[in-house]
Amino acid sequence: MKKEEEQKENKEMEKIVSLCKRRGFVFSGSEIYGGLAGTYDWGHFGVALKNNIQQSWWKKFVDNRRDMYGIDTAILMNGKVWEAAGHLANFADPLDGKQFNTMLKTEVGAKKGEVSVSYLRPETAQGMFVNFKNTVDAFHPKLPFGMAQIGKAFRNEIAPRDFLFRVREFEQMEIEYFVRKEDWEKYFEYWRGEMLDWMEEIGINMNKVHEVEIGDGERAHYSQRTIDFEFEFPFGQKELFGLAYRTDFDLKNHKLEYIDEDAGDKITPHVIEPSLGIGRTVLAILLSVYSEDEKGGEVRSFLKFKPNIAPVICAVSPLLKNKPELVEYANTRVFAPLKAEFGRVIWDDNGNIGKRYRRQDEIGTPFCVVVDFDTLTDNTVTVRDRDTGEQERIKVENLKKYIKDKI
Ligand code: GAP
Repeated sequence: MKKEEEQKENKEMEKIVSLCKRRGFVFSGSEIYGGLAGTYDWGHFGVALKNNIQQSWWKKFVDNRRDMYGIDTAILMNGKVWEAAGHLANFADPLDGKQFNTMLKTEVGAKKGEVSVSYLRPETAQGMFVNFKNTVDAFHPKLPFGMAQIGKAFRNEIAPRDFLFRVREFEQMEIEYFVRKEDWEKYFEYWRGEMLDWMEEIGINMNKVHEVEIGDGERAHYSQRTIDFEFEFPFGQKELFGLAYRTDFDLKNHKLEYIDEDAGDKITPHVIEPSLGIGRTVLAILLSVYSEDEKGGEVRSFLKFKPNIAPVICAVSPLLKNKPELVEYANTRVFAPLKAEFGRVIWDDNGNIGKRYRRQDEIGTPFCVVVDFDTLTDNTVTVRDRDTGEQERIKVENLKKYIKDKI
């Protein structure tokens, strides 16, 4: 790669990382003690963004469907799970000519003789497989059906790097979709489409997404077919999400079966697994929405989040914070009702209006509402659009609807 290009790409990452810190999205883990490689802490707006992403995923793949069962399983699991799942033998990366198992080992129990070696789960998937029978017994689902989980996973990565891209503690959103063996190709295609739809819904730049077929010898030990959805990150085109056909590998190893009451047969279902990392989703979105333009002779940076995932939907300001009549109006007649309606609404009276707009642009707030002296007589407010910088006068009584129509 040419030096100039490399510098430009490093700059893009630097800008994102520093914006994330400056505006309270993401901080380095344990920063005041020199950090801990591969860990990050999420600030107020980062948590909000992450929650919106998770909610969008859960709504599309669990709430809006009839064939999906949500679950939230323990991070600590009996060590035998990892033996049966093949992770003890296979979940490893090459290091100094040897295979280094990247599961994070821990000990569970206190008293002598009661201590057992366990691992922080390296994928949420196994929590679902080991609850397959519980789920079938509790809900009697008919094939095909799925289990869905959002939760933490841990990997002792040899070289954590590239901000949120490769870390040691992260969150996954995973689905295990159980099908009859003969149907696997059909549902593999189906889930490929669903994943693409969702990426578009949350504002990932689809021109930068590429599907890559993972060849024999390159796939995880459990997979007979894998497609990686790769994203053009500034540091290279790399895996964003994966879609795997895990066959009956996991259920077989855990000795779990399914009795089809209608067909009267006992089978081991096969599994299609769409697997997504939340940190990588956040990074891909940030890289997709980060924008710069010129406003008033100055370069401004702004995040063009889709309103459905923006951490803040609207900021409310009194034009001047030392005018009680403006503050009172803005607080009681604008901020409070919008906050009650949308939740993701913040009060911002810090600095002059220009400064507030720059701050909200960097947080990616689609709308800024300002209460000024005209408001007191005509009950209208200024609504400023993040992307165009244009301002409109809107009647206070129409504000809720105005915002609702745009999100
Ligand atoms: N259950 C299948 C599974 O875990 P994977 O390809 O190893 O498959 C799935 O991981 C997703 O989890 C990846 O596509 C990525 O989004 C995320 N992921 C994996 N390792 C990660 C890491 N070290 N840091 C951040 N995200 C990671």
